Amino acid sequence: MYKLRTWTKNDIGAGTRVLLRIDANVPLRDGVVTEAGKFGRLEASLPEIRRLLAAGASVVLVTHLGDPAGKAVKKLSVKPLAGWYAKRLERRIAVKTLPELERSNRAQVVMLENVRFFPGEELNDAAFAARLASLADVYVDNAFGVTHRAHASVRAVARLLPSFAGELVVREVGALLGRRKRPTLLILGGAKLSTKLPILNNLDGEVDDVLVGGATCLPLLVAAGLELPSTLKAMPERADVLLARRITKRFGRRLILPRDLVLDETGARVVDVGPETISDFCFAVQGAKSLIWNGPLGIVEEAGGQSSTKKLAACIKRARLSSAVVGGGDSIDYLASQKLLGGFTHVSTGGGAMLALLSGEKLPGLEVLRVK
Ligand code: 3PG
Repeated sequence: MYKLRTWTKNDIGAGTRVLLRIDANVPLRDGVVTEAGKFGRLEASLPEIRRLLAAGASVVLVTHLGDPAGKAVKKLSVKPLAGWYAKRLERRIAVKTLPELERSNRAQVVMLENVRFFPGEELNDAAFAARLASLADVYVDNAFGVTHRAHASVRAVARLLPSFAGELVVREVGALLGRRKRPTLLILGGAKLSTKLPILNNLDGEVDDVLVGGATCLPLLVAAGLELPSTLKAMPERADVLLARRITKRFGRRLILPRDLVLDETGARVVDVGPETISDFCFAVQGAKSLIWNGPLGIVEEAGGQSSTKKLAACIKRARLSSAVVGGGDSIDYLASQKLLGGFTHVSTGGGAMLALLSGEKLPGLEVLRVK
């Protein structure tokens, strides 16, 4: 179990300058933040900022937005994000470049322009990290969604200043790695079986049944000897079917696969799992005490692919499990838009970071904050 360094008033108090890494990498529509509701990344980052301000600290907010690959890209400026925080925190928050902040910074809260505008960020460059460290006395990492990246504002800088995990990072790690009451279900959806293999391997001993939907289930259905509809335009690749055979052998009857599929109007694509499958999945949920869900069961971006994900979330809400953890960008965005996240005890703000942690990987952004 990870034990992370956390800060107290002995570490951060009136006048302490804090470099706070957040993960405010959210989709913008026409330059406007679209995140709504209490489960989003921006919302999840607020309590730590408030806690630091209440302690009397001044805060330099650091985030990336999109992937500008080390160059300044105007449409990836963090200005809309600073506007969002300014409104929620009811204070002015300017966006400054690194040289501007190096020259002077007297603001209580300020935001550094997109940290990925600098090539040194993704290279975990020591000189760039030293420039970041020069802006503050203490580093706090509350950016769970990037803890799987060995980047300068995540890893290198944490070695240069007294460094601590923020409350969101601590909460994520607790929810994802903490003990779960059995029986535990693992629910996997999304596009590709091979990306889920590390989770299956790592959680094998901790989960009772594994429910699989999305395109991830197709090679498993073939491995189970079932015939997919002949109208499908693309059949699962051979490598995926071989992998599926290995998984089927290992998990045996613990694997719960769809009994019916929903195709698009032409029959060429699977867009969702069907009603019989949902009734099986819901039955399994009713018999469980905890679950982890990653990836939508259908193509939730399309109207015809939403039903099962929606019904499963409603079923989880009714089941009132002791712990129900969900993560993965697509399902979260969709479930948030449908106001169906209320039944979960934890909604992860991490996509890749959640998968990496559940896969048993050592995350560079967490390793530097661990109490050894
Ligand atoms: C995410 O969106 O999952 C995080 O912000 C990390 O982004 P990245 O995959 O571009 O590193």
